[in-house]
Amino acid sequence: MKYKSQKVAYWFFALSMLLLSLQIVYGFIMGFAHMGYDNLHSVIPFNTARAVHTNLLVVWLLSGFMGAAYYIIPEEAEHELVSVKWAYIQLISFAVVGVIAVIGYHLNYWEGRKFLEIPRPLDWLVVVNVLTFLGLILATLYKGKKRTTTSLVLTMGLVFAALLYLPGMIWFDNQTMDSFFRWWVVHLWVEGVWELIMGGILAFLLIKITGVDREVIEKWLYVIVGLTFISGILGTGHHYYYIGAGKMWLIIGGIFSALEPLAFLGMALFAIAMYRKGEKRHPNKTALNWTLGTAIVSFVGAGLLGLAHTLPQVNLYTHGTLVTAMHGHLAFWGAYAMIVLAIISYALPNLTGRKLYDTTHGQLAFWLSNIGMLGMTVAFGVAGVSQVYMERIIGIEFGEVQQEIQVHFLILVLCATMFTAGISYFIYEFLKYGTPNDEALVSK
Ligand code: HEM
Ligand code: HEM
Ligand SMILES: [Fe+2]
Repeated sequence: MKYKSQKVAYWFFALSMLLLSLQIVYGFIMGFAHMGYDNLHSVIPFNTARAVHTNLLVVWLLSGFMGAAYYIIPEEAEHELVSVKWAYIQLISFAVVGVIAVIGYHLNYWEGRKFLEIPRPLDWLVVVNVLTFLGLILATLYKGKKRTTTSLVLTMGLVFAALLYLPGMIWFDNQTMDSFFRWWVVHLWVEGVWELIMGGILAFLLIKITGVDREVIEKWLYVIVGLTFISGILGTGHHYYYIGAGKMWLIIGGIFSALEPLAFLGMALFAIAMYRKGEKRHPNKTALNWTLGTAIVSFVGAGLLGLAHTLPQVNLYTHGTLVTAMHGHLAFWGAYAMIVLAIISYALPNLTGRKLYDTTHGQLAFWLSNIGMLGMTVAFGVAGVSQVYMERIIGIEFGEVQQEIQVHFLILVLCATMFTAGISYFIYEFLKYGTPNDEALVSK
């Protein structure tokens, strides 16, 4: 690392790993419940497990993004973080809000809005926390020597993500209105501004790993930002089809969301092109795997599997079934989980000074988790398509269909076990690196 304050990033990454482990536990609880072994039902009913699983996902990804920003911004701006102390306060308070929310869900303190279950009073704590984070990042950029395109795109993504949290906090008595604005958060995050965060981190990693000129990489970044906004904003319409929001959304949502895979395709082609162009390749092969992997898997999970159910004619049947879970897993994994694991893999050797670049454990972590997640996606997909056929075409009752598809969850749990083995290797490597230290500082 080049700046002492970058060390803060490590602790955000550590929190990320802890919450990822916990998320997986709740995934298994649901996997077994789907198989018919809902033994924990009286303590952790399915709805609680689901809310905890998805909220922990969002929190560990955000913690990873914040760590990424604390690592990248000082290096790009060529300036120490303005206050390390406040960054630690922000980290601890972020973790505390997360813990309160998760405990609350177990005590039925939650709002029944998928992904936005955090009760509104806690939302205000999130707002204060994120403002502190953004204040630190923006002040560092302002005081810094340089404002690179990479750092600006990353910061823009973070600022917009914070702003887009607000529509979800407005109170509506009307279900349609509430759903309408819930999508401003959920969709415009993952199919809009989070893509900027991903693009910013991806550009940073490609600059460092491939050795290609910054000018070339940053030009591509503009194209990706453009494609994301052109398709992603009106693409929100693919969630307005049948919620009472008006017929015009069938056509607007259908056309624009069908264009969204282009942004992900752009990112994949971009990463591969830079990899092939790069001559001064960095020896950190693990980070390279995760970086190229994220660009490719996100195209499959978000782009292709998103496209698979985005047309209104298809979504009429698939909406709210396990087809959504199929896409949700590979999209979140490919785009956001993998980019967080990529920046961690790149940053750890620099923060700790230990160069465990290309170990067997690192390779196992990458391949087991990816193959496991791909298997899980297929299991969800097969279960989802069977569910759609039985429930929506033949008209068999919901509960009966759930029993028919139990067997697919055996496959899901087996693949999830492989996935978990991969993640365990990743965390094992993480622990083996040890904590960051000043001896790892290199001259600027
Ligand atoms: C051991 C690993 C995991 C298992 C067994 C698992 C299992 C499950 C199950 C059973 C559901 C509920 C599906 C339903 O509604 O019936 C679910 C939901 C979800 N999981 Fe996982 N999961 C695992 C890991 C992950 C990971 C690593 C991610 C993200 C990268 C993830 C993202 C999601 C998302 C986004 C949903 C909500 C999907 C939707 O909206 O329909 N899960 N998971
Ligand atoms: C990395 C980017 C993406 C992520 C992480 C993601 C994740 C998700 C998740 C978690 C859901 C369930 C949300 C909920 O019900 O609250 C969802 C729904 C959906 N996504 Fe994506 N998605 C991404 C990109 C895309 C793209 C590019 C498309 C289209 C080409 C797409 C099409 C859809 C559709 C049609 C639904 C609604 C499914 C339903 O009716 O139940 N997604 N996505
Ligand atoms: Fe969407």
